[in-house]
Amino acid sequence: MEASSLPPCSITFLLLLLLTITVTVNADSLSRRALLANGLAATPPMGWNSWNHFNCFIDEKMIKETADALISTGLANLGYKFVNIDDCWAEISRDDKGNLVPKNSTFPSGLKALADYVHSKGLKLGIYSDAGYFTCSNKMPGSLGHEEQDAKTFASWGIDYLKYDNCNNDGSKPLVRYPVMTRALMNAGRPIFFSLCEWGDMHPALWGASVGNSWRTTNDIADNWDSMISRADQNEVYADYARPGGWNDPDMLEIGNGGMTKDEYIVHFSLWAVSKAPLLIGCDVRNVSKETMEIISNKEVIDVNQDKLGVQGKKVRMEGDLEVWAGALSGYRVAVVLLNRGAVRRVMTARWDDIGIPPSSTVIARDLWQHKTLKQRFVDILTATVDSHACKMYILKPIS
Ligand code: GLA
Repeated sequence: MEASSLPPCSITFLLLLLLTITVTVNADSLSRRALLANGLAATPPMGWNSWNHFNCFIDEKMIKETADALISTGLANLGYKFVNIDDCWAEISRDDKGNLVPKNSTFPSGLKALADYVHSKGLKLGIYSDAGYFTCSNKMPGSLGHEEQDAKTFASWGIDYLKYDNCNNDGSKPLVRYPVMTRALMNAGRPIFFSLCEWGDMHPALWGASVGNSWRTTNDIADNWDSMISRADQNEVYADYARPGGWNDPDMLEIGNGGMTKDEYIVHFSLWAVSKAPLLIGCDVRNVSKETMEIISNKEVIDVNQDKLGVQGKKVRMEGDLEVWAGALSGYRVAVVLLNRGAVRRVMTARWDDIGIPPSSTVIARDLWQHKTLKQRFVDILTATVDSHACKMYILKPIS
């Protein structure tokens, strides 16, 4: 039956249905993009955070020295711009107006002065609070019930990034508590990157994009292979939810803290890069070794993380200890990680039909850790030998 011959009530119904679908789709894409307007998460955030190395032992002097070191090592130039203070920066009690107060013994000059210092270096300052009554250290108040006030305080100090933890809350769901801070930040008068840290408890990948700019998908990382690799695994499951504006967060980097081998730290950096994870250095950048620098300053790997397409790589083949991870990059390129999780050296193969390159294409391969474009041209497969607890990382570019 043609539309013209439908009874008028059916046409009205069809029009209403169309309108409902259009409005719903628009509302959904708007809500998924609610915070994109802050413009701070077009690519995953890069910087440093105090927690993994310093725990609660932080003060304004070492934060300033860290900012200086990010500049003098060249890390800032590579994109590591956020200097993020984690837990333990505030006094245990609010002042008589209910404001958070920087701890006088460790941050006597206050956070505004610190932000001014960090900004004067061309860097950004991040801070930490909690969607509960106290933070996870139990050493400072959380923001539950004080969201508007705290967001305004952070903005008035010039804060650029808020990590928002989940300890000591009232038992309500993160999806109830976190958006209160989202709205408070949107009203604070300053763009502030919003990092949700509810540890993956309530599948934040499913709702995080309308609430924040990144969401932790895992519990805390520790400086060892099993912890690191299991966080990469848990985070990978949610690959389809990451995109410019909002990123899955498998927790901060441990590279340079001493608990893994060089090859294992290379795996750590490669997986975080291809997973479009935040690259937040977690070691003491004031005393960084040559080996650590070599890893965290690998610009070719950083470029994969920061690629404008913003597609999180996935495991495209898992054969026991051998895994192929791959993700599309801009310019019809593909990033590939050949990961050997096992105890012995193995030969591994990347297959075009697994990683999304058209069959029979001839491909140029760039080895991102050797910093070499391989002389050989590859058709349909690329094969390499990979050591135990190690990986190879390539960018493949089809040329015909
Ligand atoms: C939680 C977070 C960590 C860190 C600590 C601070 O465990 O997941 O990343 O912020 O709290 O107490």
